[in-house]
Amino acid sequence: MNPEELNKKRVQYITFLKKQPKGFVYCDNEPAQTMQVKPALNKTEQLKSLNCKYVDCTACPLGTQGRTQVVFGKGSPQTSLMFVGEGPGRDEDTQGAPFVGRSGKLLTQIIEAMGLTRDDVYISNVVKCRPPENRTPLPNESSTCKNLLLLKEIDIVKPKIICTLGSTATKALLGDELKITATRGMFVEWRNVLVLPTYHPAYLLRNPAEKRTVWEDMKKIMAKLEELQSNEE
Ligand code: SF4
Ligand code: URA
Repeated sequence: MNPEELNKKRVQYITFLKKQPKGFVYCDNEPAQTMQVKPALNKTEQLKSLNCKYVDCTACPLGTQGRTQVVFGKGSPQTSLMFVGEGPGRDEDTQGAPFVGRSGKLLTQIIEAMGLTRDDVYISNVVKCRPPENRTPLPNESSTCKNLLLLKEIDIVKPKIICTLGSTATKALLGDELKITATRGMFVEWRNVLVLPTYHPAYLLRNPAEKRTVWEDMKKIMAKLEELQSNEE
C-alpha cells in the first residue's frame, strides 16, 4: 500500500471508529480483511467473563482451605433485587450454587412467597469459597472477595435493592461497626442502591418466630420495588 492509500485507509478507519457505539469492543486478532467489531458485552457475558477470571482464585486464605469449587452468584442479571449472604456451606460447595442447602430452601420459600422465583432475582455471597467448618469469614477474607467479585457483580447487575442476609453481608456492604439489629428492616442508601438488611435464613432456622419479622421486611422490599417501578413509568 502506498502512503496515500494508507492515509486514506486511516481516515476511513477513524471515521468508522467514531460511528461505533460507546463501549464497543474491537477484536484485533482477526485477519485485517475480516476485522470485526464486537458489540459491548451484555450483563450475562460480563458476569461470565468476570467469573471466568476467578475459577481458580486463591487471593485469600479461603482459596486453599479445602473448598471444592468457587461458588459464584446466580440468577437474573436483569433483576432489580439482589440477595447477599455470607458464604457457601457444604451443600453449596458440593453443588456449585449459592443457597441450595437448608438455608437456601428457606430463602427460596421466602422469594416464592414474594411472588417471585429464584430466577427473577440475583443471589450471591460475600465470600465465594466455603470457610472450613462453616466458620464466619475473617475480615480480610470478606474484604478481599468483596473487592474482587461482589462489588463487580453489583456494578454489572445494578440492582435497585440489595437485601443483605445477616451480619456478615450487612457489615461487608455498610461497614464493620454496623449492628444488624440497628439497621434490620431499614433501607440504607449505599452507592445508588437501597440496602435492606434482614436476618440470615440460618438464624431463622434456629429462631422460627423471627420469620414474621423477615416477612415484614420482604413486604417493605415489594412495596419499594413497586414504588420505584411506578416512578419510572
Ligand atoms: Fe478468591 Fe473469594 Fe475464594 Fe477468597 S473467597 S479465594 S477471594 S474467590
Ligand atoms: N449461607 C450463606 O450465607 N450462603 C449460602 O450460599 C448458603 C448458606
